[in-house]
Amino acid sequence: MCGIVGIINSNSLKNEAIDILKKLEYRGYDSAGISLFEKNRIKTIKSVGKISELEKKSKNLLDKNFTGIIGHTRWATHGIVNRNNAHPFSDENLTLVCNGIIENYMEIQKRYVDIPNNIQSDVEVSFYFLSYLLNKYKSPDEAIKTFLKIIKGNYAFVIYIKKNNSFYLLKNGSPISISHKDKSFYACSDSSILSFYHNRIYHLKDGDILKIDNDVVKRLNNNNKIIFEENSVSQNPYDKGKFQHYMLKEIYEQPKVLKETQQRYNSEFFLDFANKFQKLFDVNKLILVGCGTAYHACMIGEYYFNKFTNLDVSSELASELRYKNINTKQKTLYIFVSQSGETMDTLMALKYIKKYNKTSVIITNSLQSSMVREADVTIPTYALKEVGVASTKAFTCQVLSLANLSLEVAKMNKTISNSDYKKNLKILNTLPDKLKKLIKDFSPTAKYLAKKMSLVNSCYFLGRNISYPIALEGSLKLKEISYMHSEGFPGGEMKHGPIALIDKNTMTVCIAPNNELYEKSLSNAQEIIARNGKIIILSSAKRTKKGNTEMSVPSLPKENFIDTPFIYSIPLQLISYYFALNEGTDIDQPRNLAKSVTVE
Ligand code: AGP
Repeated sequence: MCGIVGIINSNSLKNEAIDILKKLEYRGYDSAGISLFEKNRIKTIKSVGKISELEKKSKNLLDKNFTGIIGHTRWATHGIVNRNNAHPFSDENLTLVCNGIIENYMEIQKRYVDIPNNIQSDVEVSFYFLSYLLNKYKSPDEAIKTFLKIIKGNYAFVIYIKKNNSFYLLKNGSPISISHKDKSFYACSDSSILSFYHNRIYHLKDGDILKIDNDVVKRLNNNNKIIFEENSVSQNPYDKGKFQHYMLKEIYEQPKVLKETQQRYNSEFFLDFANKFQKLFDVNKLILVGCGTAYHACMIGEYYFNKFTNLDVSSELASELRYKNINTKQKTLYIFVSQSGETMDTLMALKYIKKYNKTSVIITNSLQSSMVREADVTIPTYALKEVGVASTKAFTCQVLSLANLSLEVAKMNKTISNSDYKKNLKILNTLPDKLKKLIKDFSPTAKYLAKKMSLVNSCYFLGRNISYPIALEGSLKLKEISYMHSEGFPGGEMKHGPIALIDKNTMTVCIAPNNELYEKSLSNAQEIIARNGKIIILSSAKRTKKGNTEMSVPSLPKENFIDTPFIYSIPLQLISYYFALNEGTDIDQPRNLAKSVTVE
């Protein structure tokens, strides 16, 4: 994972690099480092923990005589979290940072270089290997080309070599882009960050070796021209405004971004759907693929397709799909869902099915991502950049995308009546206003319920039918930001085992929309109460009495099948947020996580 940056020729190298690293912190925050360089020297500073530590440590470092800088923020994969394993790896001749994993580092260590055995980091081994090649070859360009031929894995490197005072960028699998204006060049693993500095950007392709020498950028591996694309600067997603955390800001942004997404779908993407996509959906099987929250969106999509169309549909975890055989006879369309478009498991699953000539769609919030470059069709979501590690607005936009897609496919295949199609579309069009009111009305209740949760050690989430993936997502949200032990179950499965977990120290959140399954959900709640478990019922039903038990039900707006995931997920996001706030955790950057998981 990790985030990398490189800058040449800026008046404020250190401050700009630290500023970019702070924006990259979503990719990991175990340790960080920078190397400043000019033709006679390299100066490196590293620290453990967040960028603020690095900032403190480099406070007195003057950058005015340096010509460039590289920097890194780390999410540990190979090697424990300590200063030594932090990037950049550097000596007096070479400094480098890397995002990704060098898979054959042990083989390199055995075959080529004599390195102390206590080295744990694949990138540190790569550093020693490149140093060795720089000694072996007269030309640094030759050393770099040989380095690239031998190393295996998914990576992006930013490298400075003092011998020829040159700056190199290498890419295979992991993203890296470069922007420039006049003589100043910025490289970064997240191209959206570069648009705050320059509006001309080039996204490196796999196998690319770019060299910047005397203010000129050229490709070393072939003579193809480097064409910088125009990139417009968007609104600043890093401004928290009146909110204490990005997560809360992003929860509140949902009505706005869902409205934007729906309007763009109505007027652009889903307009004239049959003409554009009839061939794409001429399949017998649909497989939805994602990880984490995006996988939960896939599961919700599965319920939509199952309800509105006659397609055979299933959901797969991207990290597991790659180990499964692909049915080559079946006509299958794969729909990948990924906020970042960079999640390595999802990207690899996409590349895997492509080997079998399968067609793919990517639903993503990042139009410049690797998955967009791999998939046949891209369906954008317009959630704007999501900074909080816990996905909220990106998730609901993914669900909206799948809701629209299932309706359009149903209309095209005539499995939905015209009036039902229109009715459902109207629900989606009016959803933003309903959610705006819901967020405002439910927030005090969320704070109250969050307090109740501090009485227990574990929390379970139950749902049936389309509420089941909502339960899974509610549970994931709670555990990732508050570290409370939590699991989600289909309501009907409780009696097959999980009910053994229930005692007075547990809280169970029953997601019980007021539909044909409502009574069954209440029975689940009662079974839990009978075992001294604490209960929260989320429902649009006003008050509930089952047998002799009066149950407290925070009332939600009346739902329909298609808007159920929105009406129930947002309250769960709020409850998790306020619970984590009470617990005092690092909500936007929870421990052990990163926003974009670019390792397998
Ligand atoms: C969301 O809250 C999680 N942090 C995580 O599960 C995330 O959804 C997952 O890693 C997939 O990311 P993607 O959508 O960028 O592919």
